[in-house]
Amino acid sequence: MTSTNGDAIHDIGVGLISVGWMGKLHTRAYQALTTVYPELRLRPRLVHAADTAMDRAGYARDVLGYNKASADYRDVVADPDVDVVSICAPTGLHREIGVAAAESGKPFWIEKPVGRDAKDAADVAEAANRAGVVTTVGYNYRHAPAVEHVRALVANGDLGRITNVRATFFNSYASEPKGALSWRFIRDLAGFGALGDLLSHVIDLMQYILGPISEVSALTSTVYMERPILPMGSGTHFAVIENGELGTVENDDYAAALVRFAADSKAAGAVGTLEASRVIVGPQCGLGFEIYGTEGSVTWNFEQMNELRVCLGRRGPHVGYTTVLSNSHFGDYAHFQPGPANSMGYDDLKVIEAKKFLVALTGGERRNSTVDDARHVAEVIAAAAASSQSGTWHQVPPVPGATFGGNPATATAASG
Ligand SMILES: NC(=O)c1ccc[n+]([C@@H]2O[C@H](COP(=O)([O-])OP(=O)(O)OC[C@H]3O[C@@H](n4cnc5c(N)ncnc54)[C@H](O)[C@@H]3O)[C@@H](O)[C@H]2O)c1
Repeated sequence: MTSTNGDAIHDIGVGLISVGWMGKLHTRAYQALTTVYPELRLRPRLVHAADTAMDRAGYARDVLGYNKASADYRDVVADPDVDVVSICAPTGLHREIGVAAAESGKPFWIEKPVGRDAKDAADVAEAANRAGVVTTVGYNYRHAPAVEHVRALVANGDLGRITNVRATFFNSYASEPKGALSWRFIRDLAGFGALGDLLSHVIDLMQYILGPISEVSALTSTVYMERPILPMGSGTHFAVIENGELGTVENDDYAAALVRFAADSKAAGAVGTLEASRVIVGPQCGLGFEIYGTEGSVTWNFEQMNELRVCLGRRGPHVGYTTVLSNSHFGDYAHFQPGPANSMGYDDLKVIEAKKFLVALTGGERRNSTVDDARHVAEVIAAAAASSQSGTWHQVPPVPGATFGGNPATATAASG
């Protein structure tokens, strides 16, 4: 990585591990940075991509524009021209690759949920902290301008004392019974099902807006026990396969949790109900929340990402919800659109995530999600999984260094 002081240009060599959905998306995000945020003078260069599926590695070189393509991720991590690594591999590989990147001293942007369980997440976080490398995690829904605005409303006390929240991720990607048995359904490759893949986003979003969850009671269920097998590196997890050989679904399709927020959160004493399903029929990418306070409330859903429903105050002729469309007062909206209600999209959230990563890397503001945040999410998931077995409430242990989007300099042990 080269840069000079003052009006520095930050030339950053990018390595990519895995060229699936997320690998392509990280790439588009790096490519967009130069024009969306010209004032930051970030110049990511696509250096080296790896995927065990050689056609995908070849796509990275020939279509996406990486200089080199390999089958082995170690070639990317060891490449001296690579300054940062994007880790977009299946979840079961996060631990091995995250630790390898950290031990090579490479800052990394890793997809959620950072490993299969709390042990995987802890190993990655400890390796990154030992190496002192900047990290960012793929919790992209944090960056939706409407979500950033909600976070500010809560922080300013505009909703009063937070009393209760409801949040869901209802995703239809496996609603078809003949939907493919991709790596997401195999415990060794994915860890948990909806609990790890989807509820992790819900937990991160709630903790980003409100602060740490301290206690959990949960249950999980599996709706479809078998599915047609999809070979690794082919198709997507949305694929439907007729007459394919069936394999066993090894993790949950649905998860629900009742949670309590920690005494030092912005929702101290509040409770929440969180739910996730990957087999739901109706909602398709329904990541949404309702946050209720003594002075007002908000509700948002990713399926209408640019709309926020707000109620501020309890009286007057316009009491009740008003729909506000995203505008330049919300988060990074103005970087993408010159006027209100010109919708942003999913890819734009990854551009903002890439920006937060590289700004933190180049010595600027540290508003990036970190592996410590992911570790705290993993601890909430572990408590939920334990509760689904025992039928009792489980405490979430503290995770030193988790920031929930706050200033890392003031982050200590997040409350258990
Ligand atoms: N942030 C989000 O909104 C979001 C959305 C989707 C997926 N994800 C996360 O991103 C990660 C990847 O998901 P995806 O949907 O892009 O998966 P995908 O199935 O589209 O792609 C995975 C890729 O990994 C490759 N691969 C398998 N083994 C490998 C190895 N040993 N070395 C290198 N490459 C290997 C496969 O060939 C494939 O190209 C997961 O952890 C998932 O949880 C996050």
